[in-house]
Amino acid sequence: MKFFIDTANIEQIKEAQDMGILDGVTTNPSLMAKEGITGHDNIMKHYISICNIVDGDVSAEVIATDYEGMVREGEALADLHGQIVVKLPMIKDGIKACKYFSDKGIKTNMTLVFSPGQALLAAKAGATYVSPFIGRLDDISTDGLNLIAEIRLIYDNYGFETEILAASVRHTMHVIDCAKLGADVMTGPLSSITGLLKHPLTDNGLAKFLEDYNKGN
Ligand code: G3P
Repeated sequence: MKFFIDTANIEQIKEAQDMGILDGVTTNPSLMAKEGITGHDNIMKHYISICNIVDGDVSAEVIATDYEGMVREGEALADLHGQIVVKLPMIKDGIKACKYFSDKGIKTNMTLVFSPGQALLAAKAGATYVSPFIGRLDDISTDGLNLIAEIRLIYDNYGFETEILAASVRHTMHVIDCAKLGADVMTGPLSSITGLLKHPLTDNGLAKFLEDYNKGN
């Protein structure tokens, strides 16, 4: 299972990268705005800074909602750095743009996916990643994890190679449940990754080991 961090915060990206377990980064316009990164040139520079920190894929989202605009923006994003994955919205023109980029060998991430049918279309268009937003489904009393299970079943039935990137992950249990269901990737906040470390028996056990060691010294 790949671990992506879902942020545009450089310090948090560095912290996850330093742990040695980070496989990539996902961003979106809201995450950029949250870090105060605004304006086309600043956003482009920020993508390059992120790519220079991590080794893996970095999803960068197009703003255009028409096919020609998505192709134009996506090509500019892909030219920025070899690690950029073009992130496209799950609308008709987004699917068409996804097919265009997959035919050209440029990696894509279909975002804002909320149904198995949308995920099926993403796979048909050759998407590298499909991003079902599980937290946002949970927010409206719909089982986000069930969507991961449905997409896993459909993709396995036909051997689709599109990777299921569980997005809108909010906490550690989302990560663990996605791992059980066979999501290929999860993207979440730093806390959803570092939270996996926590267990009181680990802390107590370590304190006891150190205490006992120090008795003999
Ligand atoms: O990965 C998608 C993500 O950025 C959305 O997360 O928590 O805003 O639903 P959230």
